[in-house]
Formats: sequence, C-alpha cells, structure tokens
Amino acid sequence: MIPFTKTSITDVEKKYIEEALITSKICGDGKFTKKCTEWFYQNCKINHFLLTTSGTHSLELAAILAELKEGDEVLLPSYTFVSTADAVLLRGAKPVFIDIDKRTFNMDANLIEEKITPKTKAIFPVHYAGVACDMDQIMEIAKKYELIVVEDAAQGVLAYYKDMPLGTIGDYGCFSFHETKNYVMGEGGAIIVKDDGKLKKAEIVREKGTNRSQFIRGEVDKYTWHEMGSSYLPSDILAALLYGQLTRANEIMEKRMHIWNYYNESLAELEKKGKIIRPYVPSYAKHNAHMYYIVLPTEEIRNQLMTKLKEKEISATFHYIPLHTSPMGKRLGCKKGELPVTEEYAGRLLRLPLYADMKKEDLEFVCKSIKEIL
Ligand SMILES: Cc1ncc(COP(=O)(O)O)c(C=O)c1O
Repeated sequence: MIPFTKTSITDVEKKYIEEALITSKICGDGKFTKKCTEWFYQNCKINHFLLTTSGTHSLELAAILAELKEGDEVLLPSYTFVSTADAVLLRGAKPVFIDIDKRTFNMDANLIEEKITPKTKAIFPVHYAGVACDMDQIMEIAKKYELIVVEDAAQGVLAYYKDMPLGTIGDYGCFSFHETKNYVMGEGGAIIVKDDGKLKKAEIVREKGTNRSQFIRGEVDKYTWHEMGSSYLPSDILAALLYGQLTRANEIMEKRMHIWNYYNESLAELEKKGKIIRPYVPSYAKHNAHMYYIVLPTEEIRNQLMTKLKEKEISATFHYIPLHTSPMGKRLGCKKGELPVTEEYAGRLLRLPLYADMKKEDLEFVCKSIKEIL
C-alpha cells in the first residue's frame, strides 16, 4: 500500500533522542527545547517562540492569551481541523464560521466584515495546505474593528505570506509538529507571540500558571502561582526529535517540494481537459509543500476515484467534514446550506500521498493511476 503520509526519521533524530535520554533532563524546557527555539529565531523572523505539546494546545493557549470569554464571538473557517474551533469553545466563546475561497480553501476575507458584530473579539484564519490566507486584508479588518488575530499555521511551518513567515503576522501564531506535518515530534507544536508585552503571560500560562520560566533563567529566586494556566511544554525527548528534523529542514522541504511539483506538472494535462482542478497558490504566498490535492468535478467522482485508487493500494483521502455540518456544529445551531462553497468544495477535494521519502516509482504510479481512472 502506498501510504498517505509517512514520517522521515533518520539516524540524526535517533542520535539526538539518545543524547536527550542520556545527558539531558527530559522534562520540558531542556537543552533540545532551547535548540529548537534558537533554530526558529535564526531561520525565521519570529519575535517570540514557545514550544508546546501540540498545535491544539497552542491554539488553546492563544485563546487564553486573547482573553476569550463567554459571550465573545470568533470568526474562523468551517473548513478546518476541529482544534481551531475547540480552542474557542473551551473558553466559552462562540465560533462563527466564514465560507472559504474556492480556489485556496482558505477563509474568504471578503466575507469577514458582514459577520462582525459588537460581540466579535477575534479572527482565527487557517492557512490551509500551508498556503497563506490574504493576511493584508485580514489584518486591515482586524485593525478597523480592534480584533485579535490568531493564525492557525498548523500546516504552515516555513511557508510565507509575502516575506513574512506564517504565524508571525497576527497577534499569535500556532504551529503543529504532529506526525502528519512537515517537521514532526510525534505530538507537538509551538506558539508564536508577536507582542513583547504578551510574552510573560504566555510563559506563565504555558508553565501551569507559574513564573517558573523566569526562575529557570535565574531572574527570580523562587517561583509561584501567578495566573490560571496549564502544562503546555513538551518533554525534551520530543524536542530532540524535532531538533533532528530541523537540522534536516532543507532536505525535507526539497524532497516534499519535488513531489509537489511533480504532481503539479504531471496532472496539468487533466486540468486542461477539465477533469480536475489543481491547487491554486496566490502570488503573495510561498507554500511549503505540506499537501497536494486535486479537486474533482463532483463529490461522486471524487469518491469513485478514491475507491479505485484504494483498489490499486494507493491511500488518497478526503479532508475536513465542514465543522458546521458535523454533529457538534449542528448542536451549536449551524445549518447545512449556510456555507455553500465550503460544503461543495469539501466534497470535491482529494488529497494525494505526499511524504519526503516517497519513492519515485510510487509517485509515478499514483499519477498514472489517476490518469487511467479519470
Ligand atoms: C489546521 C489545523 N489546526 C490545528 C491542528 C492541530 O494540531 P495538532 O494535531 O498538533 O494538535 C491541525 C492538525 O492536524 C491542523 O491541521
């Protein structure tokens, strides 16, 4: 079976994990957490970077820092992973879903203003497939209505909007290093904090509500409870795995980009014949080859293609069931028909296998099979 995704782990990662086990303290904020943090400071224009236990937890942390509370409304796409909405709900705030742009699958920035009410507190744009949302437009609206922006850049690590790394444009940015992402630590993530003044609270909330981070740096002689918080710092063993991946970041990116470009070139003829639509990358976006998908003319054709690829032992998969049509979405009072583009296009999208170590013959076989079937 050609898997849909597969991690690329080498002796480099194994060496660092072993080193963490032998020489380092293995709780959070050890030597490898520092190395990962330093890596991001050196390789991206990032103000403040804190490693976390997951992309989900980064979003939860951001929602706490945004001081979301009952009665607040937050604008986000329905075409996203559940964690974007869960972070809002966990604070008692209400997710308000915005339809997507059919070319990028990102929140349609032209539809934001009509959903703003006096209760709107924040916007959570999601950079789908590592392709940037229209951040100038989103930031302009946020400024006009004084809204907080939390970028869900779970899929957007080392992707850019113009020359800005995704996650660094809004007030907070959230990365994921889940095993399905470009750079992995099993379960893990990071929060990027733009404003210097918000860093102290972010550190405190991440460390169970204490100022332990300051204590570890020797800035205070004891630490204690300052805020409501939780434990959002990952074990240094996982940070060691991530550090290994980061030292291989160029190699991983190049391999993924090669596969993405191969799909894009090989499937161009199907697009010309009107049988598929390939991903659209706006000129302001530099993507990170996180995902390759095709859009089929109907949901029925998408499902038939998915089944036939499975018969050929190729794992291709649909992506999100729109949140507003899910059982939880219905309980929140959302109705089918509210977001027509999301509903139609979610049914037509098919994700293809993409992982750094994908064999050339497998890649060729996937393309050949799609052409034959269609
Ligand atoms: C858009 C989006 N947001 C949030 C998450 C959650 O990240 P994690 O799996 O690290 O909790 C994911 C991961 O699948 C995601 O794709």
